[in-house]
Amino acid sequence: MPIIITVAHQKGGVGKSTLSTNLTSYYSRNEINAAVVDADVQGSITSLVATYGEENRFHDIHLIPRNSFNNFSDLSAREEELLIIDTPPYLSSNLQEIFRISDYILIPTKAGVFDMFAIEGTLDLVEDALKAHPQVQVGVVINMTSKAEKFRHEIRQHLQAREIDVLQAEIFKRIEFQRSLLNGSIFESNDKKAIAEITALGEEILAKLQEEAPLENSQATN
Ligand SMILES: Nc1ncnc2c1ncn2[C@@H]1O[C@H](COP(=O)(O)OP(=O)(O)OP(=O)(O)O)[C@@H](O)[C@H]1O
Ligand SMILES: [Mg+2]
Repeated sequence: MPIIITVAHQKGGVGKSTLSTNLTSYYSRNEINAAVVDADVQGSITSLVATYGEENRFHDIHLIPRNSFNNFSDLSAREEELLIIDTPPYLSSNLQEIFRISDYILIPTKAGVFDMFAIEGTLDLVEDALKAHPQVQVGVVINMTSKAEKFRHEIRQHLQAREIDVLQAEIFKRIEFQRSLLNGSIFESNDKKAIAEITALGEEILAKLQEEAPLENSQATN
């Protein structure tokens, strides 16, 4: 039964697909049998792999497209050790079904003033899911930030005051993250800072998950 990480935010363009693919690549490169699930029928990752996959750019990203399974609950029976579900924005009804099978919900947010309000709708859905499944872990990751973005400290405090875990790892706005969607993953680049950020994020999530259920043969936190 795979561990399932769902990447969700009802707002578009916060980096769900970017983080889903890069985290899948990170875990695959660390001896974990990982796959990314594109929850969107006409999903962005599915289209990317269909367009560029034959050029072997996505060799370490095993994709499970939406049309390859019936219900999200079917995913719990898969053989992979770890699944990352990339969700499209505005998917509220299916999102509850996905949260039900998830071990970890990762919510990427930008660190702007309006982003602090935009995250509320997703947090409400997560709170509903937590009432039914209190074992699910939730973490917010600040994405597309910069050293100049002073508001990232405030958004962190605001969420922590609401007892929402904000991960230590932060993902900065870097051109290589834009390229990573076309190149397969950030690990195909020479951007050491970007690689370190995804590595830190992947390790931090895994450490939180392993407090609950250790993954066999995991090298990623060694
Ligand atoms: N850390 C980053 N640095 C620079 N660009 C980024 C970063 N994260 C994401 N982007 C860019 O922001 C845009 C939106 O990212 P992405 O498609 O991953 O968001 P999304 O949440 O999946 O959007 P949607 O909800 O529409 O599916 C893309 O052009 C991506 O390359
Ligand atoms: Mg997306």
